[in-house]
Amino acid sequence: MLRFRLCLSFFSVRTVKQLDEVLTAISPKIRALRTSILLSSGDNDAIERTGGMTTLENETGTRELKGKRALVTGGTRGIGAAVVRRLLDAGAEVLTTARSATSTVPEGATFVEADVRTRAGAQALAAAAQEVLGGVDVLVHNAGGAQPYKGTSAIPDEEWQGALDLNYLAAVRLDSLLVPGMRERRSGMIVHVSSAAVPATPPPFLHYTAAKAALENYSRGLASELAPFGIRVNTVTPGRVATPGGEATREQWARLDPAQGQNSATVPLGREGQPDDIAHAVLFLVSDRAGWLTGSNIVVDGGEFPRG
Ligand SMILES: NC(=O)c1ccc[n+]([C@@H]2O[C@H](COP(=O)([O-])OP(=O)(O)OC[C@H]3O[C@@H](n4cnc5c(N)ncnc54)[C@H](OP(=O)(O)O)[C@@H]3O)[C@@H](O)[C@H]2O)c1
Repeated sequence: MLRFRLCLSFFSVRTVKQLDEVLTAISPKIRALRTSILLSSGDNDAIERTGGMTTLENETGTRELKGKRALVTGGTRGIGAAVVRRLLDAGAEVLTTARSATSTVPEGATFVEADVRTRAGAQALAAAAQEVLGGVDVLVHNAGGAQPYKGTSAIPDEEWQGALDLNYLAAVRLDSLLVPGMRERRSGMIVHVSSAAVPATPPPFLHYTAAKAALENYSRGLASELAPFGIRVNTVTPGRVATPGGEATREQWARLDPAQGQNSATVPLGREGQPDDIAHAVLFLVSDRAGWLTGSNIVVDGGEFPRG
């Protein structure tokens, strides 16, 4: 019921200085509202219990992400919204972003409108994260996607660039702005969301899978570089997941090629994925339970695209 959205449109707020002024003016309200949300939400009901064990608590009985500040891109629907909910349930403070505010921002998260495809978008988002959260401990790069084309040669130049910006360079840019703070604190958890379609390389999506392949490669290299600073970098790779974006893309693909797109019969575990299937893997990777995991890629695809 109580939800606060901070809308920072690049059309109306063009510089970081202007952004700072807006945030400075309204941030006390954000904090007051968040406090009342936390006090009134009865969070214990949201904690998942399995066989008598609270999976979101650590051994001292504290919710395992309590005190952590998380930024999730693309958290208004699909996988990103599930990740936001899981992080909130685990006790994190969460800021999320999308290009437009919708009624589906998970309750309890703070929302900032931003387009992660541009450097200006990344800069505004990093400034908002600093102002709203005071820093970022957990960074989940989830926003992504692309529309299919008839074949590789039908993919226009601007779509190649758009796919690279959204699925790869958005992460590089945002990391470059937020990693310095993590290095100073000598701790941080970064998760990049890739796609199980990478090894399959379907021609209608080559712009997308090439960008995600670059993301996976970058993620491994960044993990090596940042490990000495206590920063863990991992990838989660979803298969076919029932989300608004996933369904729309598969419908477009089926229109181009009726034999493709909607076929989930090939998933060995017998069903398509749900957003929470992916969110559970993300939550694990950013928790202390994954304290010795970095540079990994967890493929969550019901067994559809086995990797060697
Ligand atoms: N669903 C699947 O089957 C599947 C399979 C493999 C991999 N994945 C990957 O999983 C991730 C999430 O996919 P999904 O299916 O949950 O997608 P989705 O349902 O389309 O949701 C995407 C989210 O990202 C936001 N977003 C998109 N472009 C953005 C931009 N330029 N700047 C900021 N936010 C942006 C969207 O909000 P706005 O549109 O309002 O900006 C929305 O909140 C993506 O990286 C995707 O590639 C999904």
